[in-house]
Amino acid sequence: MVSIAQFTEYKRQNRKISVLTAWDAVFAAILDEAGVDLILVGDSLAMVALGHPTTLPIDLGDMIHHAQAVTRVVKKTPVVVDLPFMAYQLGWQQALESSGRVLKETNAQAVKLEGGYPEMAETIRRIVQAGIPVMGHVGLTPQSVQQLGFKQQGKSEQEADRILQEAVAIETAGAFAIVLEHIPGPLAARITEKLSIPTIGIGAGRDCDGQVLVTTDLLGLGSWKPPFAKAYVDLRLQVKQAVQAFGEEIRDGSFPG
Ligand code: KIV
Repeated sequence: MVSIAQFTEYKRQNRKISVLTAWDAVFAAILDEAGVDLILVGDSLAMVALGHPTTLPIDLGDMIHHAQAVTRVVKKTPVVVDLPFMAYQLGWQQALESSGRVLKETNAQAVKLEGGYPEMAETIRRIVQAGIPVMGHVGLTPQSVQQLGFKQQGKSEQEADRILQEAVAIETAGAFAIVLEHIPGPLAARITEKLSIPTIGIGAGRDCDGQVLVTTDLLGLGSWKPPFAKAYVDLRLQVKQAVQAFGEEIRDGSFPG
């Protein structure tokens, strides 16, 4: 198993980092075998696996249930689990308790939480102090969808400065890496240059230290994908064709042979 400390080393070596999401044993095993650098049990599973319109409804118990399915089969890839909405916003004590449950009950290596300065930085500091690696997440933070929408963040100079300060505060608090979601490429490049921990971009241009995609987007499985995502295969179409072929072969008697 690659250690969490290795990710800062990757940045020093200028080795780019690949991150993908997983929420069940089938995809987790494939990602692990294929050699992705980090698996994220992202709370996006509320949308892509459970059909919710936002990430807000999922709770800590659901995240732990899915993370257990992932860690049960993963052999070499570190696993990070998202703390869901309202499992850490009440204060660092709640955040520490939730993070502790994730590590104890799932065998994952780290947690991720959204937001920055100043409260979240203090929360991160407390969790890290307890020996739990934390990944930060700034820019478009989907748990704040009711305030931010799903829009690009950091377009004005003032907003960009705030996001940069949040990223610095998260590094100072001890996070091992940080997700930059849906911000302009030049801002992501500035943050990447400033921090010594790796930045993992999604819709944040090509200058981050790594990239993350939601696996259903990568595989073309969803009915919709964000404009910045890339589908490397159209599995939705292929699965549909397989299901239709199965039905036709049953009807024409060619299956079972
Ligand atoms: O929940 C998730 O999948 C995420 C990624 C988009 C970074 O947080």
